[in-house]
Amino acid sequence: MSVRHFLTLNDLSKAEALSIIERAGELKALHKSKTLFEPLKNRVLGMIFEKSSTRTRVSFEAGMTQLGGSAIFLSSRDTQLGRGEPIEDSARVLSQMVDAVMIRTFEHEKIETFAQYSTVPVINALTDDYHPCQLLADMQAYIEARGSIEGKTVTWIGDGNNMCSSYINAAMLFDFKLNIACPEGYEPNAKLVEKAGDRVTITRSIEEASRGAHLITTDVWASMGQEEETKARLAAFADYQVSPKLMDLADKDAVFLHCLPAHRGEEVSEDMLDDPRSVVFEQAGNRLHAQKALLEFLILN
Ligand code: CP
Ligand code: NVA
Repeated sequence: MSVRHFLTLNDLSKAEALSIIERAGELKALHKSKTLFEPLKNRVLGMIFEKSSTRTRVSFEAGMTQLGGSAIFLSSRDTQLGRGEPIEDSARVLSQMVDAVMIRTFEHEKIETFAQYSTVPVINALTDDYHPCQLLADMQAYIEARGSIEGKTVTWIGDGNNMCSSYINAAMLFDFKLNIACPEGYEPNAKLVEKAGDRVTITRSIEEASRGAHLITTDVWASMGQEEETKARLAAFADYQVSPKLMDLADKDAVFLHCLPAHRGEEVSEDMLDDPRSVVFEQAGNRLHAQKALLEFLILN
């Protein structure tokens, strides 16, 4: 059987994605009850990081240890990858030594190439284009807080970035409506929007996008790799802040999510993360459980 990868949410069927999220809940309960469960004993995850990370690195590394295995942190600065060894060669070598590889990098094509030459599962831990692991945790957080997301309305405020693209994929996979409010010039990938059809709408008005929404989410205005654009982006996104006042336009049971790290005073008001409708810290904690379920699914399949 050919090896399964997780490069975008499209690599899972709806049933598989929902069962991973359900499994994440079971693993969360086991973790909370401090029950030892080691199905990945002696298995090894290679973790290639070409960008910074707090949540992704710690959740994958802790997750592998908790499942009985281990993880190796590979920074491009200290490996031959950073000195120009072709990605194809690195994939052929590393995949003989570890049981899965997680990659955080810039160009999405890089992980596609790695996956093409890898004999073990490859997981996208964020590229310039997508952040699918985050969506598993986000969907888990929503479902835990409010039940099924099917048929609900989700609002994305801000940059049409990697997280936004993964929300578009999620809208198609989990079958929800997605309102995107973004300034001109910062729209998400047009092909993806077209593929999503009438599930996705784009507007300039954060109020219009938020009315009646069941979930409102946002992300930083300048992603990793866009540091030089920060000043221009601060100006372009000035009217795209999520605040409790904006949440008041949403459904009475609406929740707020943010993949974190957040910039208070920019994409979120100072008080947004502490608002009772915010479940961002539960969401961040779910990175551990959702990825453990994903590792179990990919490595033991
Ligand atoms: N949300 C997320 O991926 O966080 P890190 O950049 O800290 O891994
Ligand atoms: N869009 C952000 C997400 C960080 C988790 C970035 O790519 O930097």
